[in-house]
Amino acid sequence: MLELTELKKYPDYHLFLRSGLPDLSGLPWVAPLREWTAYCDNLVDVPHGVSRHPVLFINLEGFVYAIKELPVGVAEKEYHALTKLEDLRLPAVLPVGFIHTTNPDDRRSLLITRHLEYSIPYRSIFQSNSLITYRQHFLDAISSLLVQLHLAGVYWGDCSLSNTLFRRDAGTLQAYLVDAETLEFFPNYFPPAHRHQELDIMEENINGELSDLHSINQLMDNISLHEVGGYIRVRYQKLWEEITREDIVNPTEQYIIQERIEALNSLGYSVGEIELYPTQNGNQLRLRVVVTDRNYHRDQLVKLTGLEAEEMQAQKMMNEILEVRALLSTDENRSIPISVASYHWLKNIYEPTLHYLGSLIGTDMNLSELYCQVLEHKWYMSEKAHRDVGHQVAAEDYLENYDGISKL
Ligand SMILES: Nc1ncnc2c1ncn2[C@@H]1O[C@H](COP(=O)(O)OP(=O)(O)OP(=O)(O)O)[C@@H](O)[C@H]1O
Ligand SMILES: [Mg+2]
Repeated sequence: MLELTELKKYPDYHLFLRSGLPDLSGLPWVAPLREWTAYCDNLVDVPHGVSRHPVLFINLEGFVYAIKELPVGVAEKEYHALTKLEDLRLPAVLPVGFIHTTNPDDRRSLLITRHLEYSIPYRSIFQSNSLITYRQHFLDAISSLLVQLHLAGVYWGDCSLSNTLFRRDAGTLQAYLVDAETLEFFPNYFPPAHRHQELDIMEENINGELSDLHSINQLMDNISLHEVGGYIRVRYQKLWEEITREDIVNPTEQYIIQERIEALNSLGYSVGEIELYPTQNGNQLRLRVVVTDRNYHRDQLVKLTGLEAEEMQAQKMMNEILEVRALLSTDENRSIPISVASYHWLKNIYEPTLHYLGSLIGTDMNLSELYCQVLEHKWYMSEKAHRDVGHQVAAEDYLENYDGISKL
């Protein structure tokens, strides 16, 4: 983690910033946020959710930062909560620093976070016809985020659509926590009552937000308003049960342990430990699996190729790498190390495919998602052609039909 340093101490405010960032000390911190338009010409307009506190976005040296104005003391608390999420490797916006004013007549604090690139606020998902395919994934993404938080002993206390951002993840969505004001950490024991309370708050918040959209005619007709929160609750409960349930292992069924680990890995969860306890029933064992985080394929991909991706994107790319390894091993009639297959995939498949996409690079999808979209397109084309059409043909066709295919 980068170090937090007190960068500037002025009579009117203290600014705490992580190192290695653009110098933010020149910004008009002494002015209330609502007056910044008069001082800054690098404010940017990005789609964002509703908020009680003033929030604005500023472009500095090519990166966009979100600045939120809060009552005194709150920004510091939220900053530290976000750094804890970062340490726990949970999906949340990245904290950059905080400020508190010292003038007794103007007591405020400000939180600075990195703008989450390529994120989609929920309003876009519910308002746009073109994002309709993402709606189911959107509900799963929220339930998965809550499961990830609870597994790590984090109580959110304010799960809502406005407090969540979404990133495309190989045709699905990954949810990110954006508002950490109410977070509480339970590193040793997470009380089940908190999980229930969390779900109650989520349901109330989300159904309320959708009713608000409905009342201003901004909700698409086919949404059943009051079922969304309940649906997320059911998805959450299913996933929680899948991850935390204990299995009974008979002496001849040791394979169950491996099956369980593989099932969790395929959902993206990494398994830190497995615990086996004797049961009262002879030589049966009780199996408990300790999940560390949901970065299983991301960790593999970054280690082998240096590419950062979301979990489902990484899973698709790792599957390709394994396929390349199998093909190379058959061709060369020897076992090819995974590191060699990864390099081959990167240089001969991944990079050339992105190269074919040329003009799409740098638009509103990140490279990993663009690549995964081409893979999906390749799959459709190959199905139709009854043969593998290859990456180049798929990428060129994707580029040609981009406007028609794109679900942006
Ligand atoms: N780092 C960021 N990246 C992208 N969007 C952001 C970021 N920080 C804030 N936003 C946007 O600003 C909105 C408001 O932020 P946030 O929820 O933290 O404000 P708030 O005033 O504390 O909200 P609440 O009313 O729930 O207390 C979010 O819904 C999100 O769309
Ligand atoms: Mg909020």
